[in-house]
Amino acid sequence: MAWAAPAQAQGQLNLYCSVQVEWCTAIANTFQRDTGITVNMTQKGSGESLAQIRAEAQNPRGDVWFGGTGDPHLIVAEEGLSVEYKSAAHVDLQPWAIRQYEAAKGRSVGVYSGAVGFGFNTELLAKKTISAPACWADLTKAAYKGEIQVANPNSSGTAYVIIATLVQLMGEDKAFAYLKELHPNINAYARSGTGPIKAVARGETAVSLSFVHDAVTESNAGFPVKYNTPCEGTGYEIGSMSIIKGARNIANARRFYDWALTPAAQRIGFEVGKQLQMPSNKNAPLPPGAPDLSKMKLVEYDFVKYGAAAERRRLLAKWDAEIGSLPR
Ligand code: G6P
Repeated sequence: MAWAAPAQAQGQLNLYCSVQVEWCTAIANTFQRDTGITVNMTQKGSGESLAQIRAEAQNPRGDVWFGGTGDPHLIVAEEGLSVEYKSAAHVDLQPWAIRQYEAAKGRSVGVYSGAVGFGFNTELLAKKTISAPACWADLTKAAYKGEIQVANPNSSGTAYVIIATLVQLMGEDKAFAYLKELHPNINAYARSGTGPIKAVARGETAVSLSFVHDAVTESNAGFPVKYNTPCEGTGYEIGSMSIIKGARNIANARRFYDWALTPAAQRIGFEVGKQLQMPSNKNAPLPPGAPDLSKMKLVEYDFVKYGAAAERRRLLAKWDAEIGSLPR
C-alpha cells in the first residue's frame, strides 16, 4: 500500500483468530487499514489456540485472541494467561456478552453467539430416502449409519460445546451412553468445527452436528443445505475475545479489542464471509437470515462449570477413552 509508512510507525498486532478464515483475514485487513497497525494473523480452532497460548505462556507471541467458543477463553482467564480489560463499548453489549466478561473476571468478553444444531444436505437425504433429523433421538437410528459427521472436541470448540450440551440435557451417564450409540453413525471426527458442515455442503456426508449459523452460510453460498435445532433443546456458544498476558503490543491489543466491539467491526463477518452469528453489540443488527437464538429452546448453559479447565480436561479424557478410541 502507498501509505504503508504510518503502519510501521503504529507498530504491530499479533492476532490469534478462531473464526472462519475469510472473517479472520477481513478483520486483520480492515483493522490494519483503519489504524495503520500491521496485523500478523494466525487462524486456528478454539482448542488449538488454547493449546498454543498455553505452550507460549513463558514467552507469549500473541497479543489478542479473537473468536472461537467461550469455554477455552475462560480457561485462558482461569490459568492467568489473559488480562483484564473493560472496553468503553461495554455498556452497549448484550447481557450474554457481559456474562462471559463476569465469568472470566474481566479477562474476556463475548463478541458473538450461535446455537448448536443439525446441518443436512437436502439432495443427499432425498436420494438416500432418509428423513431430516429433528431430534437428538433421531441421530442414533440405523438409517443414519455412517451418514453423520462431527468435529473432535480436543481441537474444536464446537465439538466441546456439543458434548457439554448433551451432558447438560441428559446427565453425564446418559450423554456418554448416547455418544457411544451415536458412534457407528459417525463417519469422521473432523479437526475443525466447520469441517463437517462443509462436508455436508459438498455432499460428502448427509448430516453434521454444527453451529446452525454455519449451515446458513453454506446455503447462502448456493449449496443444498438446511438445518434444524434439536426438539429436545440445544446449547450455544458465546464466541469470545481475550487479551493475552505478556502481550508485547498491549496498547494495540486494547485498541483492537475496542474496535472489534464496535457495530461496524461486528458487521465484517457478514459482509465478507456471510457469517451469521448474533453480534454482541446491541447496536449491531442481526444479519439478514441469521438464526435467532431468542426463538430456540436453549439449555441454561453453565459457562462457568463447562469453561473450567479441570472439567474440560476431565470430559475430554473421558471422550478420548470412551468414544474417540472406539473401533471404526
Ligand atoms: C466457526 C463458527 C464459530 C465458532 C468456531 C469454532 O468458525 O462459525 O461460531 O466459534 O467455528 O471453531 P472450532 O474449530 O474451534 O470448533
